[in-house]
Amino acid sequence: MRTFLPIIHFSHDLVSNSGQLTAVVPLQGFRATKLRLYIKEFAVHSIGKAFCTFFLIFGICLGTQKVGAQISRGDVDLNLQLEITDPILILSHLFLGTFSPSCSQVADVDSSQVVDISDPIQLLSHLFLGDPAPENLSLFEERLCLEPSQEQAERGMLVYENPDPEGNTFACLTCHNLVPDADATYQRPGHSLVGALGRPSYKNGELDHFLDAVNVCREFWMITEPWEEEDEEFLDLTSLVRGFNPVEATEALELQIEESTHQGPSTGDPVQGCETFHSTCIVCHGEGALGTERAPSLVFDPINPLDPDYIRLRVRTSGNSDTVYENLTGGVMPFWSHSRLSDTELEDIVAYLSERPVHECREIEPPPVGVVLRSGELTNESNGVMGKVEELSTGVIRVVMFNYDGEGDEVRPWLYLGDDLDNGLSFGENLVREAPGWEDATLEIPLPDDLTMDAYDHFAIRSISDGSVFGRCELLPIDNNGEGTVVRSGQLIERFHGVRGLVEELDTRKLRFSNFYYDGAGIDVRVWLYQSGNPQGGYEIGPDLLRPSPGWVDATFVVDIPERFTPDMYDSISIWCVPVRVSFGDTKLE
Ligand code: HEC
Ligand code: HEC
Repeated sequence: MRTFLPIIHFSHDLVSNSGQLTAVVPLQGFRATKLRLYIKEFAVHSIGKAFCTFFLIFGICLGTQKVGAQISRGDVDLNLQLEITDPILILSHLFLGTFSPSCSQVADVDSSQVVDISDPIQLLSHLFLGDPAPENLSLFEERLCLEPSQEQAERGMLVYENPDPEGNTFACLTCHNLVPDADATYQRPGHSLVGALGRPSYKNGELDHFLDAVNVCREFWMITEPWEEEDEEFLDLTSLVRGFNPVEATEALELQIEESTHQGPSTGDPVQGCETFHSTCIVCHGEGALGTERAPSLVFDPINPLDPDYIRLRVRTSGNSDTVYENLTGGVMPFWSHSRLSDTELEDIVAYLSERPVHECREIEPPPVGVVLRSGELTNESNGVMGKVEELSTGVIRVVMFNYDGEGDEVRPWLYLGDDLDNGLSFGENLVREAPGWEDATLEIPLPDDLTMDAYDHFAIRSISDGSVFGRCELLPIDNNGEGTVVRSGQLIERFHGVRGLVEELDTRKLRFSNFYYDGAGIDVRVWLYQSGNPQGGYEIGPDLLRPSPGWVDATFVVDIPERFTPDMYDSISIWCVPVRVSFGDTKLE
């Protein structure tokens, strides 16, 4: 990468040749509106976008030259050189089947969309007769061909997991699994992205390119801008999907989008419908159909119950009628084709949603609480302050059995380091209260954002106005001595979100994590026990490990292994994202 300082000039060339930033011409003659348009285009295309907006004000732009694709068509061994071995490999691919290129595009020397005998011939004529060199792969094709780097896969995972900041609350993850549907926890309206890169056509044969198919989802379901082929986000998502399944030719999907043949009251089973709802619609409509930020509540309303025919219509044909799909009748909710949800399953769901619930299929689990990282016992210095203080992995200080008479002025929780009481900070609410104050209460006080654990190791209840301390304690790491002896251990191998650290299995049926790092991001991330070689067939244990930024930094904690998981059921541990079914970091216990 080369850094340089050009005076800004946005030429038309710059816009179309995304990010070829070479011109050094003073900024002149642009009307403000025109300039803004170019800046936007530029920001999308350039790697150095963050710098540009800033440096623009000074009339200079610190950019980095974008590197184009490096791999030439025909370079089937991907060694960045065209040599005699390349046509030989293509011939052995065509006639002996002893070689297969890592993507078909690289063997398609003449860009004819098929790999045939003309490809090695053209390559030979280039090598020996001086014919023009084959073109380079496009950036997208290059991503199809190469194993993704760790950084590309990580960035791709963020793209897959998160809604677009410009769009609505849906992410690719909302509607598509990244593992084969049969292995997935939830059945989603779109097909798994496994195999999605190798289809001959998309969207019921209407579109030829993966990007066009993805853009239909972006525009009509995520309500955001389509991607360009060179957009980093698109390329990183491609790398992620590629990493999960090397590109192989797969069949085109055929979706039946048609109204249900059933009418009137459902003959389905509401209890089964509750089960099915909780493995399908739950992703957007939430546990117990209570609604989420993605979709409204569908809870039974005795005055205005949902009409069975209306539910069927919404499930089968929901979606913007301007998309490539036929027969859609409007709505932001995605349709469910028959291959995604059978009529029997739909009838059960209709029964569950349209009838007065007699009983639910499952108990709603209380939200999991975090792991205790450090704790202490408050010493009473005045006003009857007592309680046990626990620092939770969720970024919360919990005080249990909290007692305090409620008197004083501006009394708040206080954090400080070592003996340096006065250099601490207050957080949470004023705890002053009318008599009798707090009696055996539980406080849950969120920690201030972006505070690292090493910034404090003491907790106090303190009057902010006169500085007097009512009770205080040191926050000590949970004492691991006496927890048991180590039977097996391993170092976590990082996959996503910076997960690493030491895992030790103790003879007391506990897992101890130490020197543990993880940025705390994702959705429903748990400790996962599995047999090596079969990560999908594992078991989640312990609480959700999500934690506000900066996440887990050199942390130590212990997770209990429930009785029912005997040591022969697992030999490996992962930090596992449950809905995506992906390991953020894992290790085999030796
Ligand atoms: C709100 C739901 C929703 C969201 C969000 C969504 N999609 Fe889709 N997508 C669908 C549905 C429904 C289909 C059609 C069913 C199918 O083909 O799997 C589809 C189809 C596709 C297809 C074509 C499958 C084929 O072969 O015809 C691709 C590729 C795709 N989506 C990728 C993506 C990507 C990548 C994202 C994120 C940028 C995304 N989708 C976001 C619902 C969604
Ligand atoms: C990708 C997210 C998503 C999934 C998955 C999803 N829905 Fe929806 N649904 C929505 C959104 C958003 C709305 C409201 C906007 C609209 O009507 O399109 C909605 C609306 C509805 C409505 C209309 C509610 C009303 O009061 O008008 C019904 C009925 C419904 N969904 C049923 C279902 C059922 C049944 C399933 C599972 C088979 C399901 N949805 C799965 C997002 C989703």
